[in-house]
Amino acid sequence: MRRAACFFLSLLLLSRESCAVKLSIQPPPASQGPKITAGGKDPLTNKGNELYTTNITISEQVVTVALDMATTDLWVMPPDGLPSFNDTHLNATVYNIISPLNGFGTVTGEIGVGVFELSSGYSIPFQAFLNVQPSSSDDGIFGVWGLGLEPSFTNTAVQQAYGSNATWGQSVLANIFAENSTGDDYIGISLSRSGDTGGTADAFLTISEYDSDYQAVANSPKVPRFSTNSFGWTVLLDALSVGGNKIDWPSISEEAPAGKNIVQIDIGTDNVRMPLVQLNALYSTIPGSVSTPYVPNLWIIPCNASVNVVATFGGQDFPIHPLDLTAIQVITSPDGRRNYTMCTASWTEFVFGKDEGVGDALFGSSFLRNAFTVFNFGTGGNTTGNPFLQMLPQTNSTTAAADAIAVRTALMANMPPELAPVELQGIINGTIPSGNTGSPAQNSTALAVAPSLSLVGAISVAVISFL
Ligand SMILES: *[C@@H]1O[C@H](CO)[C@@H](O)[C@H](O)[C@H]1NC(C)=O
Ligand SMILES: *[C@@H]1O[C@H](CO)[C@@H](O)[C@H](O)[C@H]1NC(C)=O
Ligand SMILES: *[C@@H]1O[C@H](CO)[C@@H](O)[C@H](O)[C@H]1NC(C)=O
Ligand SMILES: *[C@@H]1O[C@H](CO)[C@@H](O)[C@H](O)[C@H]1NC(C)=O
Ligand SMILES: *[C@@H]1O[C@H](CO)[C@@H](O)[C@H](O)[C@H]1NC(C)=O
Ligand SMILES: *[C@@H]1O[C@H](CO)[C@@H](O)[C@H](O)[C@H]1NC(C)=O
Ligand SMILES: *[C@@H]1O[C@H](CO)[C@@H](O)[C@H](O)[C@H]1NC(C)=O
Ligand SMILES: *[C@@H]1O[C@H](CO)[C@@H](O)[C@H](O)[C@H]1NC(C)=O
Ligand SMILES: *[C@@H]1O[C@H](CO)[C@@H](O)[C@H](O)[C@H]1NC(C)=O
Ligand SMILES: *[C@@H]1O[C@H](CO)[C@@H](O)[C@H](O)[C@H]1NC(C)=O
Ligand SMILES: *[C@@H]1O[C@H](CO)[C@@H](O)[C@H](O)[C@H]1NC(C)=O
Repeated sequence: MRRAACFFLSLLLLSRESCAVKLSIQPPPASQGPKITAGGKDPLTNKGNELYTTNITISEQVVTVALDMATTDLWVMPPDGLPSFNDTHLNATVYNIISPLNGFGTVTGEIGVGVFELSSGYSIPFQAFLNVQPSSSDDGIFGVWGLGLEPSFTNTAVQQAYGSNATWGQSVLANIFAENSTGDDYIGISLSRSGDTGGTADAFLTISEYDSDYQAVANSPKVPRFSTNSFGWTVLLDALSVGGNKIDWPSISEEAPAGKNIVQIDIGTDNVRMPLVQLNALYSTIPGSVSTPYVPNLWIIPCNASVNVVATFGGQDFPIHPLDLTAIQVITSPDGRRNYTMCTASWTEFVFGKDEGVGDALFGSSFLRNAFTVFNFGTGGNTTGNPFLQMLPQTNSTTAAADAIAVRTALMANMPPELAPVELQGIINGTIPSGNTGSPAQNSTALAVAPSLSLVGAISVAVISFL
């Protein structure tokens, strides 16, 4: 889920689209049912630290899809459409986490069925999915694969039309798990980091198996899905601490035990979203950090700052890499002449209400990069029951602090000079730095006299993410 997903999602939950048009498509005989032909890793690609994608094949078409955990449907919009399409003439509407240029909202597609395949070898011969009218994609993502818990909107529409025995409308994962009822039903996700700016090192998804490097996760505490009023992978957070001190954080939910918070873990969210009071409590502890009133809730932080943040789940500590707490950018002086490097808080404000099913916070990829995480659906094998997570810490706070400085120092060698946060705050206030500090913002000196821009406007134009 990216941005304000739940506003739309809660609407959808009340108004699932259904359509009683009869269809001519029949599932294949049981003997041709889903086959698990392989195990192994499906590589994931980090798109600018915002979304993770993988390539799937549906109805003979390879499609790059973003992964999401707040939704459960598979939808695709390949740029040239599908070569052929088994159309059920049923429609479904799902929340859309991609295509920010087109605005976030929902997408509606026609439900089709076809062969689904992963590069790891998993294959489902008869899988329902949504085929959405192609629209432009600025980032090469052409659909979403929802890794959430049932129910899916596709399955609801299929079962309304075909009866409750029709299983081909279930989510991809449910159909893969259904093939092997003796195995445990879980996926493992590793999102490792490559530098600071959204590279991919060894990110992958495994299904019903642990990667050999992460076998120890089997011994991690089981963190059960918590709260009957939430959707998605919500669990209890024991504590979030900065510099060894727990941040005071009363839950918005009456269900949460005293001192704990309900948070939703989601690969489809870029960073961590938490309430402003706790966000300020975290970033204000960093020496030298300042906030600015002109760009609401923007904390400016020394790029080299070592930030010791730890999230605790199931009694287990998960140190957060400093690079997952700040973002590096270039800011241009108000007269358009000089460029400076600026680091800002990358965790942002949580805007969901008490009744929107998310809990107190969203823990997205900037948390998940710090843990190998197993999402157990609780539907199979020896682990039938409530869904739960098992996580293995991946960040050592001592080595991460040194790594962050090394990565930032190397990166900043090729960037404009950094100013102290308070001086950057002055630039945001509209102060033109005296002298020729920074690096020239324009190559041609003839262009050096830029028109003056309004202060707030200057920031939205000038602060460009350095990716
Ligand atoms: C995924 O598919 C796209 C388009 O076909 C291709 O450019 C890309 O290299 C593929 N990625 C992987 C990891 O296979
Ligand atoms: C399903 O959606 C498609 C695309 O939006 C639309 O053309 C079609 O009329 C819809 N079908 C039904 C049965 O609502
Ligand atoms: C359509 O469905 C049939 C099974 O009924 C399947 O064999 C075929 O591959 C499907 N075609 C496409 C394009 O998905
Ligand atoms: C589902 O399958 C069971 C067992 O084959 C059968 O008894 C039942 O009538 C079926 N239900 C529907 C709605 O078709
Ligand atoms: C089914 O699960 C069991 C237990 O995890 C595993 O040993 C077996 O290889 C799985 N079968 C297939 C076909 O994946
Ligand atoms: C389930 O537990 C039993 C007893 O501990 C064990 O023998 C079996 O291998 C387990 N099965 C799976 C799929 O883990
Ligand atoms: C960051 O720290 C490194 C190591 O102490 C130092 O070499 C570098 O100059 C620092 N960068 C800034 C911008 O302070
Ligand atoms: C973190 O790394 C340091 C230095 O390599 C090591 O001494 C320490 O034991 C590690 N801590 C943990 C919790 O693994
Ligand atoms: C920027 O403006 C704010 C609000 O007026 C003020 O509190 C702050 O001191 C100013 N900072 C600088 C460096 O001018
Ligand atoms: C200065 O920074 C702006 C973004 O703020 C960027 O568009 C521009 O290319 C930079 N100028 C130089 C010479 O790097
Ligand atoms: C400035 O010039 C450098 C080197 O010639 C070039 O790489 C860069 O893209 C130019 N920047 C702008 C903003 O034109």
